[in-house]
Amino acid sequence: MIRSVIAGCGSYLPERRVTNDELAEKVDTSDEWIVARTGIRERRIAADGEKTSDLALAASHEALRDAGAGPGDIDLIVLATATPNLTFPATAATVQADLGITRGAAFDIQAVCTGFIYALATADNFIKAGQSKAALVIGAETFSRILDWEDRGTCVLFGDGAGAVVLTASEGEGTNADRGILTSHLHADGRHHDLLYVDGGPSATQSTGHLRMSGREVFRHAVVNLSAVIDEALEATGLKAEDIDWIVPHQANKRILDGTARKTGIDPSKIIVTVERHGNTSAASVPLALTEAVRDGRIKPGDLVLFEAMGGGFTWGSAIARW
Ligand code: UT7
Repeated sequence: MIRSVIAGCGSYLPERRVTNDELAEKVDTSDEWIVARTGIRERRIAADGEKTSDLALAASHEALRDAGAGPGDIDLIVLATATPNLTFPATAATVQADLGITRGAAFDIQAVCTGFIYALATADNFIKAGQSKAALVIGAETFSRILDWEDRGTCVLFGDGAGAVVLTASEGEGTNADRGILTSHLHADGRHHDLLYVDGGPSATQSTGHLRMSGREVFRHAVVNLSAVIDEALEATGLKAEDIDWIVPHQANKRILDGTARKTGIDPSKIIVTVERHGNTSAASVPLALTEAVRDGRIKPGDLVLFEAMGGGFTWGSAIARW
């Protein structure tokens, strides 16, 4: 059968670091509160004029280099973002043009913090169906642009960044020994719209709006949904928690990572954690964490890697890949 192999990865973070102490000068918060409740110590914020597509482009260049591929090899771009440059065209199409690609399809996926898992699963299905040979899958966000910088309950949590992977079609045996994506699982439950949303948009308000979140409720749902979707991926493959070498989770809150690990029996030392330096970068968080762990040598060829995320919608999902 055809498998989508992750042939390379890349990431990009804006230069400007914003520490908790800097935020405490603007809103009624403290480094102590933010670290204790979330694990976050700092986040990156895009420069004026630096757009989601710019972050995505930098991450894509690195992913292509890492894969030993050129823009001409790519026939599909799937870009996950909740903070596109413009309402349209798709930011994926802008990145396509910036890369000088003139063939194939390019579109955005909107599943907020689960966006990268949705994009990965979508590109994997295109490849397995034979409709794509090499896909660029990107998660890129400038969440700083939709934050209410007077709401201490949300503005301390998020950051900007981008990550990307190149998926290539490869023959597999159809077993867990194959390299590439072995399984993926996507969910949505739109009834929870009011717990995490942006209060603006072209059709409803003709404005961009700001992020609104009932943090405590989202937290509760996150641990339950993430544990369930991890178990679903393990069941679908017949793998056990101890077979997984690395968990690359969406980075919203260190306490969510710990709670999910406890509930699923995952060894916390296998979890790639970047939230303390990146904050929550929504769709970018998984490929950012993945790239870090590949570059520092933790994720090695042959390793089994489990991805998971949960976000606005609600949406949530998981995937398992052999590196
Ligand atoms: O990526 C998409 C998914 N998003 C998430 O997964 C986020 C999920 N939620 C969370 O991570 C946590 O719920 C938060 C970090 C957002 C909040 O932590 P919490 O332990 O659930 O705190 P809380 O919302 O229950 O607030 C506790 C107290 C409140 O004060 P009172 O009402 O107890 O007096 C808040 O007003 O903390 C207060 N508070 C703050 N204090 C200092 C809220 N934000 C801050 C702040 N600094 N930045």
